[in-house]
Amino acid sequence: MRQISAAMIDTGLLNKYNVPVPRYTSYPTVPYWNDSIDISEWTADFQNQFKIENTKDGISLYIHLPFCESLCTYCGCNKKITTNHGVEDEYIGAILKEWALYLRLMNDKPVIREIHLGGGTPTFFSPVNLERLLNTIISSAIIHDKHEFSLEGHPNNTTEAHLNTLFDIGFRRVSYGVQDNDPDVQRIINRIQPFENVQRATELARAIGYTSVNFDLIYGLPLQDTERMRRTLLQSISLRPDRVAFYRYAHVPWTSRGQRLFDENDLPDAGEKMKLYQLGKQLFAENGYYDIGMDHFALPGDDLYKVAQSGTLHRNFMGYTTHRTGMLLGLGVSAISDTGTAYAQNEKTIQGYYQRINAGLPAVQKGYFLTDEDRAFRQYILDLSCRGKTTMRSAHAGLLATYTFPELKKLENDGLLTLAGLHVSVTEAGRHFIRNICSAFDLQLQRKAKSARTFSNAV
Ligand SMILES: C[S@@+](CC[C@H](N)C(=O)[O-])C[C@H]1O[C@@H](n2cnc3c(N)ncnc32)[C@H](O)[C@@H]1O
Ligand code: SF4
Repeated sequence: MRQISAAMIDTGLLNKYNVPVPRYTSYPTVPYWNDSIDISEWTADFQNQFKIENTKDGISLYIHLPFCESLCTYCGCNKKITTNHGVEDEYIGAILKEWALYLRLMNDKPVIREIHLGGGTPTFFSPVNLERLLNTIISSAIIHDKHEFSLEGHPNNTTEAHLNTLFDIGFRRVSYGVQDNDPDVQRIINRIQPFENVQRATELARAIGYTSVNFDLIYGLPLQDTERMRRTLLQSISLRPDRVAFYRYAHVPWTSRGQRLFDENDLPDAGEKMKLYQLGKQLFAENGYYDIGMDHFALPGDDLYKVAQSGTLHRNFMGYTTHRTGMLLGLGVSAISDTGTAYAQNEKTIQGYYQRINAGLPAVQKGYFLTDEDRAFRQYILDLSCRGKTTMRSAHAGLLATYTFPELKKLENDGLLTLAGLHVSVTEAGRHFIRNICSAFDLQLQRKAKSARTFSNAV
């Protein structure tokens, strides 16, 4: 990993590679999973893998807390909009039932290495309810010495009580959804969030002792232009977040209906979006941030930077992480689990989730059992997205020659990677096209021509 160069990226290449490709938080990617997963097969896989992984390094828990008080129209997450906080109790009851169900499948007490509270808005829930949820889970487990607990907080409703309660339970990382600080952009995305709220939430977290504060920012939102983006970036950088996720806005109005509420003519086009991204890259570089990979930047003091330097960065459904546990168990509506050999996603509607849990069944709906081939190609994709290089195995020569090499050659000709025998290295220019490079190893994608609308465009 190198300090970012602010060199401009060739617009010809941008247009050429602006094709639908996934973000590779999993491989195979979600559209290739089976629409329904056999519950007994899933349960058996979970039990087998738990026996192996729990004793190695413990497990990770992802808990999806879906409620938000108002709809941000750009949002692509699984959320439920309500101002009725009466929903908290029933939801926490369901998660605890789901956890109890998995506890019964475990042959041993779970060792919890990571907990991540995602959403929706975890800070929609009262501190008392979060404490009840987490303490019940923790009391049935062993907490790993090097545990890492993190949450996604909304700057508008993260209170001192939330931060204190979670800190006492062991949380040290918080990620705030900042998105954009400009009042006009905020109005059109229906997210009125005065910068003072971001500042207050950040300073509170630091004062309490959180060691890593992340900001999510988005480029490509309606009404964004370089001047507005510059102000948002500089204001955000002035608070010195330890990490920044600078996401490209994913426009998928066919699945996220809120995105139909603004006029598509207000969206920056591909060239404008690229200028916004370049501006971000440049300002982060000028202010001491390092490019970790696919949209993530970190200060040198942050663990994400340290693991990226030591070559141990990992990527999963939550994006880049500092640690790789062999098993991720997702609890809650739409939560995704990864046992190492299988993926599964829970029911996506709250009612569907409650029905399954109340019937005493795992809530998994769609999923995928990985073949040896999938696992090998997943590793190539992980190597490229986390370390910028990979070495192909001669055992896959036939597959590589048919599906991967022709793509790699094109990318090499465009200066995005270098090929030396079976070794692939991403060049500085290729860093922006990492999703396209990974897609050369996506055998599912290469084999099947999927509808152009399945994924949003790459840049
Ligand atoms: C669950 S939300 C974060 C927590 C909290 N709900 C909030 O909004 O502050 C996760 C992140 O996904 C990102 N996100 C949501 N919809 C997106 C979209 N359509 N394109 C790109 N990023 C998106 C946002 O940056 C958001 O902060
Ligand atoms: S961005 Fe966050 S607060 Fe807004 S609707 Fe999505 S999950 Fe809820």
